[in-house]
Formats: sequence, C-alpha cells, structure tokens
Amino acid sequence: MIKASKKKISIAYTEAGKFEDTRFEKIHNVIFDSSFEGSYLVAQEIASLIREKQASNAQCVLGLATGSSPIKVYEELVRMHKEEGLSFSNVVTFNLDEYYPMDKHNIQSYHYFMYEHLFNHIDILPENINIPDGKVSSKDLYQYCIDYEMKIKAHGGLDFQLLGIGRTGHIGFNEPGSHLNSGTRSITLDHITRVDAAPSFLGIDNVPRKAITMGIGTVRKAKRIVLLAWGVNKAEILRKTIEGEVTSNVPATYLQDHNKTTFVLDKGASSELTRVKTPWLVRSCVWSEALKLKAVVWLSELTTKSILKLTDKDYNDNGMSGLLTEEGTAYNLNIKMFNKLQHTITGWPGGKPNADDTYRPERKTPERKRVIIFSPHPDDDVISMGGTFDRLVEQGHDVHIAYQTSGNIAVSDEEALKFAEIAHLLNKDSDNTRGVIDFLNLKTDHDIDSLEVRKLKGLIRRSESYASTRYLGLKDSNVHFLDMPFYETGTIRKNNLSQKDIDIVSNIIEEIKPHQIYAAGDLADPHGTHKVCLDAVFAALEALKPKAFMDDCWVWLYRGAWHEWESYEIEMAVPMSPDQVLKKRHAIFYHQSQKDGVMFQGDDYREFWVRVEDRNRLTAEKYNALGLAEYAAIEAFKRYCF
Ligand code: F6R
Repeated sequence: MIKASKKKISIAYTEAGKFEDTRFEKIHNVIFDSSFEGSYLVAQEIASLIREKQASNAQCVLGLATGSSPIKVYEELVRMHKEEGLSFSNVVTFNLDEYYPMDKHNIQSYHYFMYEHLFNHIDILPENINIPDGKVSSKDLYQYCIDYEMKIKAHGGLDFQLLGIGRTGHIGFNEPGSHLNSGTRSITLDHITRVDAAPSFLGIDNVPRKAITMGIGTVRKAKRIVLLAWGVNKAEILRKTIEGEVTSNVPATYLQDHNKTTFVLDKGASSELTRVKTPWLVRSCVWSEALKLKAVVWLSELTTKSILKLTDKDYNDNGMSGLLTEEGTAYNLNIKMFNKLQHTITGWPGGKPNADDTYRPERKTPERKRVIIFSPHPDDDVISMGGTFDRLVEQGHDVHIAYQTSGNIAVSDEEALKFAEIAHLLNKDSDNTRGVIDFLNLKTDHDIDSLEVRKLKGLIRRSESYASTRYLGLKDSNVHFLDMPFYETGTIRKNNLSQKDIDIVSNIIEEIKPHQIYAAGDLADPHGTHKVCLDAVFAALEALKPKAFMDDCWVWLYRGAWHEWESYEIEMAVPMSPDQVLKKRHAIFYHQSQKDGVMFQGDDYREFWVRVEDRNRLTAEKYNALGLAEYAAIEAFKRYCF
C-alpha cells in the first residue's frame, strides 16, 4: 500500500560508497519520497550559497538547467524571493543549453522557459543572465561557444551547477559519445532526446536536431553539482550512472569522480538502484511481509523457477540466507508467498457476494457498490482498466466514470477540421464553425488553439468517450466530464494544481459517496497530467477523510499506458478471458482521434490498444511463470491507504 511520509533528510555531500548500503554506488545520492521535499532542500542550499556570497560581497555564479526536473526548485527560489526577501542581485547565471536554431521568443526555447519559471519573478540583473543564443549564425557559432566558455571562466567558474539527466544519460545536451573534457559547443541531439521533447513541440518533426550545450568539462569544473531526477522513467539510466562504469555512452557517469556531486532523487527515480531494488544484496534486512514477497518474486524471476520450486540453496546463493533462517525452510516460505499472490487474483473486482472474503482483495459487502473510476484523459479508463470496468458494470455495481481533463490538446488539427467541416455542412449559416475552419486552415506550429477550437477538440473526445462507455453498458448520466482547469491552457505546459481543481474532484466524491475509487497511479512523469490528476485525487481524499462515508471508501490505483505495477506490488489482479480482451480492444477503438500516430506516443510507436494488450498479457505471463494459473491477460491494481 502507498503512503506518504513527511520525514526530512539532508542533501549535504558525503562520499559515495563509504557505507555498507551504498557500496555499489559511485555517486552520492539522496532519496526523497517526493520531488517536493528534494526540490525544497536544493533550493535551500542555493539560497544559503547566495546569502553566504552576499555576506562577503561576492558574486554567486550559478549554472542552471531547464526541463521538468528543476521546476519546483525555481518555484521555491521565487517564493523565497517574494516572501523571505532572498535577493539575486549578486547572482550571475549561465544556462546549460539551448536548442539550435531557436528564437528566444519561441515558447519552446529554454530562454523563454527560464524567464517564465525564474527570471521574470526575481531581482536578478538582466546583464547577469547568460543563456546560449539559439540564433547565432552558423559561421559565428564556433567562436560564440568559445566565448561562452571563457565568460564562465572570467567569472571564476561555476559555484554551483544544477542538472537534470536525460534518458540517454545526457547532462546538458552532452549526448552519448561526448568527451570528458568537452567544452561549450554545438551538438546533434540523440533520437531518444528528441522523442522525449516531442510532446512540447507537438510532434517529433518539430523538434530541432541540434543544440548548443556547455560541455562535460565545463560542468565538471563547477565547485558543487546537484543533479535532480524524478520518476521511474529515469530509474534505469540512474542505475547505470550511479553504479556502472564510467563510459562516454552514459555521459553522466563522468560525474563519478567529481568530488562534490549529489544526486537528488525521488523514490521512482531510485527504484533500480541495488540498495532499493534488491536491498538483501547489500545488507541484512528487516524482512517486512512486502519485502519478503519482493525478494521471492525477484528470486523466482532470476532463477526462472516458479516460486514453489525454489530451494534452500537458491535462497542462500542469492543473499537471502537471513530470510531463510527467519522462515525455517524454503518450503514454508514458498507456500506463504505463493498464497499471497494467489489471493490477489479475483474475477470480482467489486467483491464477491456471499463468499468468504478473508483472503480476497475486496470486501463482499455492500454487494452493490458505488464506484468512481477517475480517468485523467478521456480514454485511460478503457485503456488501463477496460476489463475491470466491464466486470464492475456486469456484476451490477453503480459505476461512474469521471474524466478529469478534457484531453483537447491530444486531438490533431486535421481531426478537428474534419468535424468542423461536417458541422459546417450541416449548418452553413453558423459563423462559429466557419471561424473554426478558418482558424485551423491558417494555424501555424506556434499558434495556441482558439477557445472555439479547444472546445471542438474537447467535444470530439467527449463523444468518443460516450461511444465507449455506452458500449460497456454505462448510462450517460453516470459519465462525468470534470474539465479540470489546470489542463486548460491550450498548450502542453499545464498550470499548477489549484484549489478549484481539487474542489471539483472532492465534489464528485462527496456527491457519489463511493465504496471504491479507481485512479491512475502513474508516477513515471512527476509533472505529467496523470500525476497532477492523481495529486488532485489524493488532496481530495485528504480533505474528505473526516467524513463518515469515507470510512467505507477503498482506493485502487491502476497504471496508465506506459508502465505496469511490478508483480510483487499488485494487490488485486483481475484476469481477462480472450473474449474480454477483444471487448476491451473494441472499447478502446471508439477513441478514434487517439488512433494512428497520435501526438503523445512517447518512444513506443505501437498504438495504445496494442501496447496495453501486450502489457496485460505480460502480467499474466509473469504470474504464470511464478507458478500461478495461466490467464490470457491480467489488469493490475494496488491499494492506496489515505
Ligand atoms: C536542460 C538539460 C537537459 C535536461 C534533461 C532532463 O537544460 O540540459 O539535460 O536536464 O534532458 O530533462 P527533464 O528534466 O525535462 O526530464
């Protein structure tokens, strides 16, 4: 079960690998429950440095990063400036990088980003801001980069360098192949980097192919380096960076021998580190039930043996002799863990009436439950839990779907134009549709959709949703479109979650008084729409907690289109027959605007229905490999206790 903790940790530098726990690690790192806590402490460290320098009348030279990782640090610095009088008058900044070519007024430029998130809100002197200029002519570029490098040097070098990390292992835009001593220069972006940037540019074709970046050598000369990384998307590259050998294939590994570097991570980003993923390999463990299950599943996967076939020797050979001593024999432990997994499987996600529910994931009463399925976009419900949704309706529960955002940004202009033209053909007198058609025909890459166009795109997604929910037997009155305001910017960049958003979510929970809530527990992208939608649900639950009806409300988290819960994390596994898999596919098909090369595909070019079918099949295969029954597909859930 997931629970938030409020403990405070320090990010002060210590030598990596000094302790038993971190002996696999070559870079000092600190793990926080959330990006908020980590960002707060990093902002504190920067503020202390600025004040320290102020006290001795010195300039404070900061190297700054853009992207989603540092946003909360900047927010906190702005807050400190406004509320605590933190002055930036002695601060000189050098940004890491800029796309090339790129106009600084373009909303996708790093220049624009820095002003929007930081510089517009603090008292830094404009002449102290340095950001690589994406408009330098190609003939001047070489010299420009040398001058940038020299300017940093002339300021005495960087006192503090803030970094993010790309999935290629880049820091700045130093892509794989970058040299240890590289300086500021132009570089060709890696394909993965361009894929990751594609959503902000509304498609990979619009992402520049080149950039200007400070070099690895430039960064490594900084007196202090702090790298931020949030979310499981970064977990794999962080394991390679922190535990792997130094290699130009993962440029961030060059930080291993910088003697004042700290990585600040959240739980998701740290999840592949040996001490987190397999703590029994680094120290003797206090064996909670959850850790036992994690270890046994890991051992079963490692040895490719089903759980009931694991032997004493398997446990001893793989760092788990302590667990074996505690449990007596492999035989006992195997059976216990096998049963635990077995009990997660149910074809009755709303609880099975008149059955003994001691070992079932859900309660049997009330027999007919009120259920809310929160869906961040208007198709996550069927993509991520279409089979379970179907069963809940079939088994007579009062199911409500709450679409949290309009999803309008993911409808292409071509799709919108098609509908606008049909509407116009039906009603030629309408100025409204004529206006929409004209707008779409004249729209350029950088234009933000007009309100009418956004409305039309939202309506397209609404009607697709109705088609899908009707197909699954739900009446329209049980379908709710929340249109949370944080999403309605008309651009990829969303607003912060506001009280208004939280109230909208609270209101529907209060109105329906559900026994079950399903929500998208996507933690991969901490600033993505799914995470914001989840934060809204968490905040609403916290606010409603004192109400009596909440005592009967259980919350189940499903995962979005990108990741699945690990087998040991699953607390409810809902199997699907081959027919149910087809039915789910059909329900997804109704979301036609999201088929065939949608905008937010990520680096997986398969359509959503293919991806999710593979994922559900894989979960079933994993369960089967652990020794459980063989199903065609499984949807997985984890309970959240608030
Ligand atoms: C940005 C930069 C990049 C990013 C990295 C991670 O100035 O230099 O290295 O830090 O691509 O990006 P996010 O934080 O968006 O995941």
